[in-house]
Amino acid sequence: MPYIKHRMRPLLAAFLVLSAAFSAEPDMKSIPAPRSAAEKQVITVLQDMARNGGTYLSVPNQDARWLRFLTEAASAKQVIEIGSSTGYSGLWFSLALLRTGGRLTTMELDPGRAAAARSHFSRAGVDHIVTLIQGNAHEELRKWKGPIDVVFIDAEKSGYVDYLNKVLPFVRPGGFILAHNIEMTPDYVKAVSANPDLETVYYMEGAGLGISRKIR
Ligand SMILES: C[S@@+](CC[C@H](N)C(=O)[O-])C[C@H]1O[C@@H](n2cnc3c(N)ncnc32)[C@H](O)[C@@H]1O
Repeated sequence: MPYIKHRMRPLLAAFLVLSAAFSAEPDMKSIPAPRSAAEKQVITVLQDMARNGGTYLSVPNQDARWLRFLTEAASAKQVIEIGSSTGYSGLWFSLALLRTGGRLTTMELDPGRAAAARSHFSRAGVDHIVTLIQGNAHEELRKWKGPIDVVFIDAEKSGYVDYLNKVLPFVRPGGFILAHNIEMTPDYVKAVSANPDLETVYYMEGAGLGISRKIR
């Protein structure tokens, strides 16, 4: 018996190492470590917002990480956000835009939340790369002219298809249209799925993020 136990020991060790390796999942919920002093300033405000109830219907960090990741991957120069709330997702975009040298234009209907977002952008030291437009995004988007690399749709769910139709002509080929709470917007899902100019995948670990890439 002791002999068998001895022979089993390396097998048991290998099993433990392998099962640990396969169960190790990337931590998507926490904010990654800052890569510069400017990022540290942004991350301090994000942490402060999360701790002190400064968010309102904001994206969970799992989804926010995709916003940052895709914005950097696209080397985005112009991001449009529809539904700023108090600026939490806008600050995540800013982390990417500090690297790409790009800008964020974010739109918010509610004056109180727009003011809170402005103050968060200012404290985070990114107000020079963020333009906040307080108003109805359906109207404001009619005035848009330039190319767009990334769009994030995160306002009232009944408006998603109209937002998509308004921004699509400006999104450059290779650019992304991201849409939040995708399970609440069946019409939008139908519209992106049926569009041959778009390829769409879904990330459902957070609150449901539609990731559409304009392929032509
Ligand atoms: C889910 S929250 C946005 C959360 C934000 N993206 C974040 O993650 O921090 C939705 C926001 O969209 C705003 N909103 C709703 N309808 C809008 C419209 N027509 N134009 C602009 N903003 C709108 C709401 O006032 C609300 O603050």
